[in-house]
Order: sequence, then C-alpha cells, then structure tokens
Amino acid sequence: MGIATEELERRIRTCTLCRLHRNRKNAVPGEGPYDARVMLLGEAPGRNEDLRGIPFCGAAGKFLDELLEIAGLKREEVYITNTVKCRPPQNRAPRDDEIKICASKYLKKQVKIVRPELIVVLGRTAAKALLGKEIPITANHGKVMTVKFAGLNFLIFLTYHPAAALYGARTRSKLREDFAKLAEVLKTARIPRPK
Ligand code: URA
Repeated sequence: MGIATEELERRIRTCTLCRLHRNRKNAVPGEGPYDARVMLLGEAPGRNEDLRGIPFCGAAGKFLDELLEIAGLKREEVYITNTVKCRPPQNRAPRDDEIKICASKYLKKQVKIVRPELIVVLGRTAAKALLGKEIPITANHGKVMTVKFAGLNFLIFLTYHPAAALYGARTRSKLREDFAKLAEVLKTARIPRPK
C-alpha cells in the first residue's frame, strides 16, 4: 500500500468532519487491494464493523461472503467500503449532509485510487451517493449502468443491501440471482478501467 492510501486511511480513522464521529468506536475506511477489479459499496458500518474497524464483518457480511462466492469472487480480491465511514447511531440511515461530506472527502479519493472496472452498489444509500439522486432498487436491481463520479465514468451494478435480505427470503433470493448475473457480467469481455 502506498503512502497516499495509508494517509487517506489515517485521515478517515481520525476524521471529525461530521456528527457521526462522536459516537464511533472505530471509523471503517475499507478493506481489500487498492488495485481491485471490483469494488463493493455498502451504506455504513454497523455495530460489529464499528467495534472492529472492518467492513461487513457481521451478519450482513456473512451473507455477502456467500454472494461473492456465487459471483465467483474472493473477498480478498475485491475492495469493500461504505458510503459513510462511521456508524450512525442505532444504525439509522446516513443523512444527506453526512453522505455529502464523507463521499466528497473520502469515497471520491478511494474510487480514484482503485479505479475499479465495476462498482457493485449495495442498496439505496450507496446508489444515492454515486448517482446523486434517489433510485428505486426494486425496479433497477441487477442492472448495469454508467455513472460519472469523481470526474470518472464508472460502470456500476445495482443490487439490494445484503442486510435487507436478512429479514426476507424474497430479497435473499433476488440478491442470489443478482450475484449470479454479476458472475456473467464479469465474464463478458474485460471492462476497461475508467480513465
Ligand atoms: N452494512 C453496511 O452497509 N456496511 C457494513 O460494513 C456492514 C453492514
């Protein structure tokens, strides 16, 4: 890992730019190789992530590991991060101002460093941060789209948040179907990295 990424992680771990830093135990910068082909973007750290400083290390993370296997991906080969890096109180959804600050300070830098061929967008908060507007996941999951973010054109693959699936068998099976589709998307022609 180069000094730029170490410094970015240090800044995230010590950030006080929004109210979310007040209740956190650990900020969660992200995990995985900075040259990953695929990036996964979640919403925000939950309780386990806050305690350990690692993304998706609780129940949703366990399901995410199963989904990655369906897509033919290993956890060690993808870069996983969240839209906001600190846990919101009681796991409430991150607010617009928190998303704005965190995405412009940190997420934009992360996507510019990784320049993934594809960003897997997990749920509505991540979608909102990348697209700059609300988009219904129910009508758009399993779709590949192009977005301009941080001045680069990225290919994104939209799907549900794995935590939503913990409460419903229907969402669980839709997520499994989406990740099977993702395996196909990743097989078809190498996608050029955004320039
Ligand atoms: N939910 C998220 O969006 N991110 C995590 O890291 C864990 C749960």
